[in-house]
Amino acid sequence: MGKTEEGQFYRKIQILNLPVFAAIFVLVLSNGVVTRAAVELLKNPGFENGVTFWSHIGFSMVTTTEQVHGGRVAVKCTGRTQSWMGPAQDIQISRGKHYVFTSYIKLINDLPGRMFQKAVVKISFTLKDGSKDYFPICSRTFLTKDDGWTMVGGDFIPPNYEWTQASLYLEGLLPGTDYYFDDASLTELPSNPNWEQEANARIENLRKSNLNVNVSLSSGFRPEDVTVEINHLKPLFAWGSVAGPDEFLSSDYAQFQQLYYYMFNWATIQDYKWRFNRGNRTNPDYRVAVAATDVLNRNGIKVRGHCMFWAVPFNNPEWVKGLAAPEFKTTVDDRIAYMTAQTKNKLAHWDVNNELLHGYFYEEHSGNPLYSEHMFREIHAADPNPTLFLNEYNVVKSGEMTQSYLSQIQKFKAANVGLGGVGVQSHLNDYEEPNPDSINYRLDVVAKGGLPIFVTELTLGAHDPNDKADCPGRLCQQLNESGKRFLKLTKETWSTHVNRSLASGTSFNLRAFQGDYEAVVWYKGKPIKRTTFSLGTQDKTVSISVSGNGDAIQLPKKIDPFTMNVQINPQTTRANLRTLGQASSTSQNSQLTCTTRRSPASGVGVGKTTQVTCQGDEVLTGCSSWLKDSDWHRDGEEILMSGGKQACRAMNGYGSAAGVEAVARCCSAQGLRCEYRTAGPSGTGMDDKVEVPCQGQAYALGCSTFTYTTHSDGTIFTNTSCMGQNDNLRSGVNSYAACCQSPNLQCRTVTSGTSGKKISDQVGVTCPKGYVMTGCNVFAQYAKAAGAFINTNAAGTDTCVAVNGAEKFGPETGVQAQATCCRT
Ligand SMILES: *[C@@H]1O[C@H](CO)[C@@H](O)[C@H](O)[C@H]1NC(C)=O
Ligand SMILES: *[C@@H]1O[C@H](CO)[C@@H](O)[C@H](O)[C@H]1NC(C)=O
Ligand SMILES: *[C@@H]1O[C@H](CO)[C@@H](O)[C@H](O)[C@H]1NC(C)=O
Ligand SMILES: *[C@@H]1O[C@H](CO)[C@@H](O)[C@H](O)[C@H]1NC(C)=O
Ligand SMILES: *[C@@H]1O[C@H](CO)[C@@H](O)[C@H](O)[C@H]1NC(C)=O
Repeated sequence: MGKTEEGQFYRKIQILNLPVFAAIFVLVLSNGVVTRAAVELLKNPGFENGVTFWSHIGFSMVTTTEQVHGGRVAVKCTGRTQSWMGPAQDIQISRGKHYVFTSYIKLINDLPGRMFQKAVVKISFTLKDGSKDYFPICSRTFLTKDDGWTMVGGDFIPPNYEWTQASLYLEGLLPGTDYYFDDASLTELPSNPNWEQEANARIENLRKSNLNVNVSLSSGFRPEDVTVEINHLKPLFAWGSVAGPDEFLSSDYAQFQQLYYYMFNWATIQDYKWRFNRGNRTNPDYRVAVAATDVLNRNGIKVRGHCMFWAVPFNNPEWVKGLAAPEFKTTVDDRIAYMTAQTKNKLAHWDVNNELLHGYFYEEHSGNPLYSEHMFREIHAADPNPTLFLNEYNVVKSGEMTQSYLSQIQKFKAANVGLGGVGVQSHLNDYEEPNPDSINYRLDVVAKGGLPIFVTELTLGAHDPNDKADCPGRLCQQLNESGKRFLKLTKETWSTHVNRSLASGTSFNLRAFQGDYEAVVWYKGKPIKRTTFSLGTQDKTVSISVSGNGDAIQLPKKIDPFTMNVQINPQTTRANLRTLGQASSTSQNSQLTCTTRRSPASGVGVGKTTQVTCQGDEVLTGCSSWLKDSDWHRDGEEILMSGGKQACRAMNGYGSAAGVEAVARCCSAQGLRCEYRTAGPSGTGMDDKVEVPCQGQAYALGCSTFTYTTHSDGTIFTNTSCMGQNDNLRSGVNSYAACCQSPNLQCRTVTSGTSGKKISDQVGVTCPKGYVMTGCNVFAQYAKAAGAFINTNAAGTDTCVAVNGAEKFGPETGVQAQATCCRT
């Protein structure tokens, strides 16, 4: 079997963050010797005894010698009128065991108008209550008549429930498709208890080389006074993460950058996706992605370009979908020419047509079943430097597509179009412990393609969905257990650091991890020479000659990315300051009275809104929002004026799992007049603020903050203005103020202490005696607040409650509640 010599983990996320890795042990699992239990669990698996033990409901299945895969006969399946019609056999399998199914199919005809077909093998489990569950074990896509005999199979672990009957069957081919079928097999895959030892032995064998250090000392130096320090600076093995490009271009994120350079030697920039074009159709704009690629390269980080095209229709720009074939093909070629010119000599990898087992958008639109091969050829011709990749999911996480992937790899290799590596995404689900036997088996299948395998998008589902939080910039100072484990593995277990005294000889050997090194010669405790070298997959001798008078040299200063202090200079601006409208209370009562009005919850998901308005003689004085599950993924709230009426509108954010609620504060008092003002966006630097000042004698009775990109530090109340504070590099934040006055109105702002650091921790603030709360919101210096609302208790006391929306670590603090309190 093949071997996995290279690999890396990327955490797939939409917005940049520092990934935290775990379960590193899946690396280099492959190459294990799998001794397959030979016991065949199917009866009459190759149809040598006719069709006995097999069922064929609703169609014809007869033995034939016209075409056979092995043995004397195969079966010919014809007259199929439903796609579920296919050979089936009842099977005896057990929970907790691991199985491998294989079989061979050969299509007799293609269907008019269908470029490809798909064959699926499922097990139908009959449960105790008589209901059925259909469990897919493999999915063979891109099938055509020209493929000839094709393997359809996969490995699986049966679901963890009880059943009374299990039946394995082939389905998925459309009605009217005839085929031959032969040589099915179902066997148990034994567990390998030694997988970890074997993986460690391969790591020792593949990721290390022999290093000989040979020091020649001039006569003044006694060997016993000299020590040589060998330090691994960067591994050859690839470790990386997805990298949001904007953070690499902003000095506010210097600490994040240094952490990245310390932890990784590879990066994936996913902003090369067609849909991530920041310009338009005629003037594409990938300048930020390209500039970040340059910065990463300058810092010794290799960059994967993800991705030139994406085979799944949904992930392509709308306008491309409508193009007719000739224009479509020109457009694809134009993009190839443009993107390769932009990135020439900069990228180490290109994902060419992402997830090509899960869609054939380009084949369909070009009318060419081999169109992806054309893309590979063109990209390779335009920029021969990057290794061109296929990149796929459900090839390691499940066994469903593994075999299809191998066939695809083999086809591309045979076509000789420049395929140089294969990505296995490896998104592992929550509560799904990675299974070493499955991972080993599946990597071995992919490795049969004979190309380097990269683990490109490793994710481990977190039990707590809120824990998937990202962590830009200074928020990453504190590592949790996953981060500590990652650093221990990459900086200690899989890294080489030794000090050798030359007392027992001026030459020594060691087996060292491959990568970049420094050697420092210490003489009587002082560094007197430093040299750097690389250790590749070949053994190496490093010769160091020491002469001179033994004076100490200056060693390069090492930055500790965990403790470095970055100065940021937040800017406060009043961009696009404007008035949205006015409102007056019609109340005849001179007493200020306020009430809270809440909207229904919005839908779940990005951009979903909900709103609430005031009633009767009230005017809107405050507007806040909060996410009902105490998570932080909301975009904030805006004050809208429509038809002379004010509304408080809340918007849900990317990645939310619950609805957001808009919370309006509605007040009435004789002569109470409000002007609604807004400004923004703020700058895009860390902690940049946008301010909305109130005019004349008006107080800011309530303040609101909104951003389209979910990242915000929330709202700051001053007595005479509102501010929103930024936490994102893409859009900045917008601020809203209800600036109000009435005869004898007196107001002040109040601020709570900070909440606890756990998600959903709350903190509240009340008004001084005699004051009424008119507006309330949340401020979070370390971002990720779940929002704020006013809570009124039985005694009528109002509390402005702020809710923390993500766990805070180390020096980070929780959230604060801020409110305006007024009296007349
Ligand atoms: C070490 O260097 C010396 C002098 O340059 C040379 O004679 C000797 O062969 C080298 N030894 C090894 C093991 O390379
Ligand atoms: C595309 O962007 C360019 C540059 O910003 C601009 O001049 C042009 O008008 C835009 N075209 C369209 C169709 O929006
Ligand atoms: C560590 O933190 C990251 C980022 O917040 C999160 O995705 C991961 O689940 C956390 N892991 C543990 C073990 O807490
Ligand atoms: C090697 O020795 C030097 C000088 O004593 C010391 O500064 C350094 O930390 C040591 N390195 C290792 C890996 O022990
Ligand atoms: C607002 O006014 C109160 C009372 O005059 C004062 O104590 C407080 O410091 C002021 N707050 C701000 C942010 O100006």
